[in-house]
Amino acid sequence: MNKKVLIIMGSHKSNGNSGWIVKKLARRMSLEGCGVDVLDINKLKINHCIDCDYCRQNYGKCVYEDDMTLVYQMMRNADSMIIVSPVYFNNVTSKLKVLIDRCQMIFMCDFAHQKPFVSKLNSEEKFGFLISLGGANAYENQFVGSELTVELLYRNLRMPLTGHFKYAGLDHEHIEDRATFFDEDMDGLVRKVLMR
Ligand SMILES: Cc1cc2nc3c(=O)[nH]c(=O)nc-3n(C[C@H](O)[C@H](O)[C@H](O)COP(=O)(O)O)c2cc1C
Repeated sequence: MNKKVLIIMGSHKSNGNSGWIVKKLARRMSLEGCGVDVLDINKLKINHCIDCDYCRQNYGKCVYEDDMTLVYQMMRNADSMIIVSPVYFNNVTSKLKVLIDRCQMIFMCDFAHQKPFVSKLNSEEKFGFLISLGGANAYENQFVGSELTVELLYRNLRMPLTGHFKYAGLDHEHIEDRATFFDEDMDGLVRKVLMR
């Protein structure tokens, strides 16, 4: 069956390390026959969650009609999701965090309406993945903030976080210069998506 993969590129630079990874990954997945949607955070206009409680009163709806409307739809239809983001102050980037905060609407579907936002509930068939990049050489807890944030998002989407690639030290070399071991990681990731 044709798998639908949603990839979100979270860097504030569209053509940096994360952008490079996303282009390679999307090409690989498409060649393997997956349906791939790519969202570049810089191309989306997303308002901040204002905690207005509209979604508490209205199942599956947000008070704003902006680019999140499409993002919600893509998340709902995806079999797998891969988030690629640098760490900014030990978490995902602020633009990506704005998108994630807007997923409070998805949380409210369960919490206030007792009806999950996604219809495909079999998490055995679903797959959430995170790829994090850091400029500094590896240090303790460098990627912990990002992982906690993204893991919670995926939990709301009934899409368990099944893995996390962490690339540190990118202030010193571009990810492209690590192509060999990066390719091995990508092979593993593509196989995981296809096996689900
Ligand atoms: C605002 C900001 C905050 C950052 N904070 C961290 C950090 O806490 N830890 C770290 O290792 N790198 C940090 N970096 C470095 C980026 O993670 C690194 O440059 C990364 O490779 C950028 O990815 P990109 O090329 O995809 O944009 C920060 C960069 C910026 C711009």
